[in-house]
Amino acid sequence: MTLLEIARLGHPVLITPAEPVRDPAEPEPQRLIDDMIETLEDAGGLGLAAPQVHRRLRLILARPLEEGQAREEVPPLVLIDPELELGEEDELAIEGCLSLPGLRGVVPRAKRVRYRGVDRHGRPLTGEAEGVFARILQHEVDHLDGILFLMRMPDLRYLAYEEEMEHLLAALETQGEQQ
Ligand code: NI
Repeated sequence: MTLLEIARLGHPVLITPAEPVRDPAEPEPQRLIDDMIETLEDAGGLGLAAPQVHRRLRLILARPLEEGQAREEVPPLVLIDPELELGEEDELAIEGCLSLPGLRGVVPRAKRVRYRGVDRHGRPLTGEAEGVFARILQHEVDHLDGILFLMRMPDLRYLAYEEEMEHLLAALETQGEQQ
């Protein structure tokens, strides 16, 4: 397995829509999945999309994390050609992205989603997600459409470096009260 280089903000691959995976069982996608898992584990992220490792394929990793769980404890779900159905209710929370190291922003996302796609063996995979997991899925599927979390931010004043996150948290509380 190989650690892959992660594309950073400014690389065109991050704003280019990705193509469907033709046959996940082929050796090439299988190798890519293994390398992406290793890369995600190494980076300590919550999710990773193929365009982030310079591959324009509709393939994501997302940890099915629940509140209070440590990310290292939860192996990522591999989802190929994913589609999401968003619930009506939104919530605000802080997001980051391995392609925007050090940055955090307040992003509205659907609280609940239904997802469907196929697993790494090409078998149909469907499920429901809420909270952190729902947010990770929306963030990663956005990558497949060339969308970064910055583009989902209604107010860029709530973009900050990780070290300044306490200010963001205060802003989030105020916004929550207004909703
Ligand atoms: Ni990201």
